[in-house]
Amino acid sequence: MRLHRILAGIAVAGLALGSAWYVREVAPASALLRADPNAVPQNADLMRFAVGRGETAFRAACAGCHGAEAAGDPHYGAPNLADADWLYGTGTPAEIERTITYGIRSHHPKAWNLAAMPAYARPVPLQGQNFPPLTPPEIADVVAYVASLSGGQADPTAIADGADLFTGKAGCFDCHAADARGDAGVGAPDLTDKAWLYGDSSRAAIMETVAYGRQGVCPAQVGSLTPTEIREAALYVYALGKGK
Ligand code: HEC
Ligand code: HEC
Repeated sequence: MRLHRILAGIAVAGLALGSAWYVREVAPASALLRADPNAVPQNADLMRFAVGRGETAFRAACAGCHGAEAAGDPHYGAPNLADADWLYGTGTPAEIERTITYGIRSHHPKAWNLAAMPAYARPVPLQGQNFPPLTPPEIADVVAYVASLSGGQADPTAIADGADLFTGKAGCFDCHAADARGDAGVGAPDLTDKAWLYGDSSRAAIMETVAYGRQGVCPAQVGSLTPTEIREAALYVYALGKGK
């Protein structure tokens, strides 16, 4: 008799714990996976659930390159994810999720890989493309021009010659656009703002980029993180960009 009561008590407690766990973890996780990612930010409860768990996934899988505060790392060319400036797309949850799932230049067939920064000091700056190599003085001019776009001082003749190269034979405009504001369709960064992927915004860092090229890699998470974890990480990053 006594034993029966104890067993029944344990069963009831187990059921209560189990259903609390179901209500707190399982139900929202499955609602999250069924939702349209772009609609989740309008659902405050689901968003809070996703962002909390996304932060854990971010610390484990992303902070190593993007930094604990997601402010980016100029060594890897990992962008700041806590601002409203996006290389790819416009920063919707679905776009962020796509980037995280397949990565950038990750060798996954669905990765973003539409453009890479040519190495203009090499005889063939970009394999399979006709961008011409530039001489060291031409590179110096183009670097002076790029630096001037974000307020850097340089010799006006160098800036003018660099601008001609940028919108002319060097083909920079092809990816970065003639006004150098970039192209979020191919991941070419805006060169007129003060956000830099690489280095410390110095002339030397820009020179290194133009002379030797850049091929930043963001790994594909499909297969490493579950679809729910990927969505949670995407919504965490989205919330960072919106100022949480
Ligand atoms: C090995 C380093 C590395 C890791 C790990 C990494 N990233 Fe990245 N990530 C990068 C680099 C480098 C870029 C920029 C690639 C480029 O220049 O196009 C990037 C770009 C991105 C972008 C595109 C930003 C934009 O402006 O469009 C997003 C979003 C992103 N990462 C999210 C994540 C998340 C979330 C994780 C963890 C699940 C993660 N990354 C893990 C290196 C990394
Ligand atoms: C084929 C497309 C393409 C062409 C042509 C091109 N770029 Fe780029 N550029 C890119 C891409 C893509 C990136 C980002 C690379 C990465 O994230 O790893 C980039 C990055 C840069 C950066 C680094 C920005 C930062 O935030 O650190 C600079 C500077 C730059 N390009 C200048 C130039 C100049 C100057 C030219 C012409 C001489 C040029 N680019 C031609 C695609 C191109």
